[in-house]
Amino acid sequence: MRPDDPVLEARDVSRHYPVRHVGRRGVVHAVDDVSLALFRGRITAVVGESGSGKSTIARVLARLEPPTSGELRLDGEPVGKPRGQAFRKYLGQVQMIFQDPFASLNPIHTVEHHIARPLKLHGPPRSKAEVHAEVLALLERVSLTPAEQFARKRPHELSGGQRQRVSIARALAVRPEVLLADEPVSMLDVSIRLGVLNLLQRLGHDDGLALLYITHDIASARYFADSVQVMYAGRLVEGGPAEAVTQEPAHPYTRLLIDSAPDPDRRGVLDGGRAERLGEAPDLSDPPSGCRFHPRCPLAMPVCEEKAPPKFSVGGGAGEEHWAACWLHAPEEQQEQAQEQEAQDQHPMTTGRR
Ligand SMILES: Nc1ncnc2c1ncn2[C@@H]1O[C@H](COP(=O)(O)OP(=O)(O)OP(=O)(O)O)[C@@H](O)[C@H]1O
Ligand SMILES: [Mg+2]
Repeated sequence: MRPDDPVLEARDVSRHYPVRHVGRRGVVHAVDDVSLALFRGRITAVVGESGSGKSTIARVLARLEPPTSGELRLDGEPVGKPRGQAFRKYLGQVQMIFQDPFASLNPIHTVEHHIARPLKLHGPPRSKAEVHAEVLALLERVSLTPAEQFARKRPHELSGGQRQRVSIARALAVRPEVLLADEPVSMLDVSIRLGVLNLLQRLGHDDGLALLYITHDIASARYFADSVQVMYAGRLVEGGPAEAVTQEPAHPYTRLLIDSAPDPDRRGVLDGGRAERLGEAPDLSDPPSGCRFHPRCPLAMPVCEEKAPPKFSVGGGAGEEHWAACWLHAPEEQQEQAQEQEAQDQHPMTTGRR
């Protein structure tokens, strides 16, 4: 494996949930055909509004649930069935950090207990003193110092930010290659968000972890991530270098997200909040045909209702390509072809409709 190959990759991953809808069976298309690659030392943000499938893709990558279709690859190798030694190894290599650090820590146990547990379960056998020393080193790594003092505390004695740091230390205990952080700061007080994000950034950039940062806040993704992938209604609609996607958004949905985000210059990058202009997300048990954004898109063309757009390149320099899944960016001849095809499909002689 070359150093610039992805550590973890999702290829055309879908995740559907069977549901009963007023007595009828149906499926929720939570994630459809998502391809995503995470690289060593790089932070990839997945941005989208509530219900767009962000947590679902994280759960699939963490293998908390299986994909309905598609493939995961770790270090270039397709992952097998969720059992046995290979599965346990995967769970060590890919760690998840959740939104609510209080829910993920047990109130009756000390910080030391939480971090020592994965050390004892994974990794080589260690003496009590060795485990203690490692717990202290991990606390220092997440800047909870003096570590001796923090090791003895219980979750309720910590602030939200400190609790999230404990969750991060616990995830680091098994020496993962990948951290999946699902809205890791959205439940924290605004004043401490930046500190936790800076810690995650250090783990990515300085310690070489591959980091997935899930957020509904595109402004924080721009500040924090190297690559931004925009998700809408279960599909990725745009992706590329963070600067390009946020400064020159190519998909009308990304533009809407940016226009609805708080202005970083006026209100501070991390103060969250969204304008109401985003409107209603579609019902994923019956997603719109063609491009899923077409019913809300101010620039929709006839083809958008008919055909799901593939990814079109919209530029990009060295490194990562900037792409958008939007017919506006189809090369002219391809747009014409799609429209001709659509006209043919609707012609009574070809459809049998008279
Ligand atoms: N177990 C489940 N059964 C049925 N539907 C589900 C299940 N889990 C998620 N969904 C649906 O899948 C879609 C995507 O949910 P998901 O939690 O991934 O969104 P999200 O982008 O993380 O949203 P948020 O920003 O609110 O966390 C939603 O429509 C949700 O209702
Ligand atoms: Mg979520």
